[in-house]
Amino acid sequence: MVDLTTTYLGLKLKNPLVASPSPLSEKVNNIQHMEHEGIAAVVMYSLFEEQIIHESLELDHFLTRGTETFAEAMSYLPDMGKFTLAPEVYVETLAKAKKAVDIPVIGSLNGVSSGGWIQYAKKIQDAGADALELNLYYLPADPNLTSGELEDNYVKLVSDVRAVIDIPLAVKLSPFFTALPNMTRRLVDAGANGLVLFNRFYQPDIDLEKLEVAPRLMLSTSQELRLPLRWIAILYGKVAADLALTTGVHTAGDALKAVMAGASVAMTTSALLKSGPGVISTIINGMEAWMEEHEYESIQQMKGSMSQGAVAEPAAFERANYMKELGSYNPLFR
Ligand SMILES: Cc1cc2nc3c(=O)[nH]c(=O)nc-3n(C[C@H](O)[C@H](O)[C@H](O)COP(=O)(O)O)c2cc1C
Repeated sequence: MVDLTTTYLGLKLKNPLVASPSPLSEKVNNIQHMEHEGIAAVVMYSLFEEQIIHESLELDHFLTRGTETFAEAMSYLPDMGKFTLAPEVYVETLAKAKKAVDIPVIGSLNGVSSGGWIQYAKKIQDAGADALELNLYYLPADPNLTSGELEDNYVKLVSDVRAVIDIPLAVKLSPFFTALPNMTRRLVDAGANGLVLFNRFYQPDIDLEKLEVAPRLMLSTSQELRLPLRWIAILYGKVAADLALTTGVHTAGDALKAVMAGASVAMTTSALLKSGPGVISTIINGMEAWMEEHEYESIQQMKGSMSQGAVAEPAAFERANYMKELGSYNPLFR
């Protein structure tokens, strides 16, 4: 019998497959369905800083009806698409989910600046969340903003959120840092217990007929696994935090690679949205079968076995491999 258990953020999980935030977790019965299929934990869809600010502005408007400030302030806020579930509904849904399932439920906040909105971290904790994931999703388009300023801002946000909660805190970040290992260390020093690698940025397209910028969301494929895989392998053993891999986990093989690189858990969304919750048991059963066949006894034994510190050729994860790979390509035409 293979031991699939793992620990993530101090939580003992029955296996390393976790549902990352998606519209599926907006409904408690979907969370129950995922639990039934064997998912080890669920991270709820995110509550956005903009949503919370939006609501507090609306309240402000209600209290100061007739002033000019409301329309002006609202015009700065982005169109939030279908994210219409009010912050209070978010907290209620989380509390209901907690009561409905036995697996850990992790709350998710998505924001970039410190401020009153982070009190929702405490509300999420009080609703019973087993941990909180803080998603730092920001696209720095201002040439006056330096990387140092932005990074200091992220670190401050993490320590401010840490200060309002006692439950474990994971930080979900993007791969676009000049010196990622140093940044992750700073986030851990600021209070992150886990790092979720990586956010997947949705690249807007241009609609040639309508001459509009079109937000065409495309789900991931297994090929996108390699970016987080490399960084998990590099960071394993170097930062004092649990690592979670997100982006590109579609098969048992993808999840096994994530664990071998050093991830405590492999997170999945696109596979769930494409194939439905049934894919969960397919992935878990596939992991178990592979491990039995290859005589692995436990996830613990496998974890980090292909990390940079463990492999015979550590340079394979760095620049040396770049030259080797380019040189190994055999073009049909020269
Ligand atoms: C429709 C959709 C909604 C998502 N909503 C959130 C969200 O609310 N918060 C968040 O942190 N990530 C969100 N994500 C990102 C996923 O949690 C995940 O990190 C990303 O899709 C990469 O993983 P995958 O390759 O398994 O899809 C969303 C993704 C999709 C496709």
